[in-house]
Amino acid sequence: MPQSTGFTTRAIHHAYDPQDNDGALTPPLHLTSTFAFETAQAGGEIFAGERQGHVYSRISNPTCDLLERRIAALEGAEAGLALSSGMGAVTAVLWTLLSPGDEVIVDKTLYGCTFAFMRHGLAKWGITITHVDMTDPANLQDAISEKTRVVYFETPANPNMRLVDIAAMSRIAHDFGASVVVDNTYATPYLTRPIELGADIVLHSATKYLGGHGDVVAGLVAGTAEQVEQIRLVGMKDMTGAVMAPFNAMLVLRGLKTLALRLDRHCASAQSVAEHLEAHPAVRKVHYPGLESFEQHALAKRQMAQPGAMIAFELHGGMEAGIAFMNGLEMIQRAVSLGDAESLVQHPASMTHSTYTPEERAEHGISDGLIRLSVGLEDLADILGDLERALPGPSRQAAE
Ligand SMILES: Cc1ncc(COP(=O)(O)O)c(C=O)c1O
Repeated sequence: MPQSTGFTTRAIHHAYDPQDNDGALTPPLHLTSTFAFETAQAGGEIFAGERQGHVYSRISNPTCDLLERRIAALEGAEAGLALSSGMGAVTAVLWTLLSPGDEVIVDKTLYGCTFAFMRHGLAKWGITITHVDMTDPANLQDAISEKTRVVYFETPANPNMRLVDIAAMSRIAHDFGASVVVDNTYATPYLTRPIELGADIVLHSATKYLGGHGDVVAGLVAGTAEQVEQIRLVGMKDMTGAVMAPFNAMLVLRGLKTLALRLDRHCASAQSVAEHLEAHPAVRKVHYPGLESFEQHALAKRQMAQPGAMIAFELHGGMEAGIAFMNGLEMIQRAVSLGDAESLVQHPASMTHSTYTPEERAEHGISDGLIRLSVGLEDLADILGDLERALPGPSRQAAE
């Protein structure tokens, strides 16, 4: 395969040649827990790192290895690592990078379980968690010190869609020798490649767009070969054991082949849905990076190839109206997760972000009335029709 292939070509072909596998077009699924050594000496050499080879599938497996090479190629990283879930990726990375006495500076808005892991997990082991509003890089500049080992954020952030300027954050963090870890779940490498913008490590819930079909829970990490090896041997192998099953690697490899195609459709539909919602009299506020009214629209244009397919919005009637709206939907499914073919709607305050106390949600910019919509791949007219039926009152368009 030539070196300078495009994104989708890499997602389909990178690091696999059928001629190495009896002509099998689709990579084989290596359902094996352990690997036989040709001789005892060969086994010893593989253990000592003097010879290439697999030992045991909690460390590496050829099907996972192919996925690891693919995510690295898509993120513009040296190496990748496959884990059992997005939370497996978050925990393995942070357990590896942090020690008691260190500080991690994180954005104010984080996915609920990541927030809980920081606040109730890491903090218990003598690690300081400092939340700053990362929509303004000056806030990081004010908070960072020599004690800061990691700067961590999501962009766009789950659930309220706040963006973080990856290049600006990376410059500040690197002045203090801190590593920048970006959760790129919402954007995927098709829309944003944090490592090319200066970040050190990217992680994913591959459960979402990368898998893309709602049939697998999976996590991925990408970074330098040295960092990824550390995360593999410390955070994954010994501390969490959060290993991806080979079958799941196969499902994510399949998902990656259509990532670009799916995201083009997801994003085009989401733009129309966001505009439709914004024009609706029952809607108080829409948070979507593709809207001119989005506070960080300029950053979105600079940092994202397209604005993504996640939308957060609030109705005039607050939480009560939001719950009635969700119950009025007929096609769009009431479910957590995102990035699937099916459009999904959920209520962060009572669902994905119920790990925050009400006070924490207020402090971290997650309003009780916020609704999160993952725009799927159904026909746009059907998505709009379902929203229209469930929204309260006659729409502005109908009234005109
Ligand atoms: C932004 C983000 N990061 C991490 C995770 C955790 O991923 P998983 O559910 O695959 O463990 C999620 C899950 O919703 C998420 O939305």
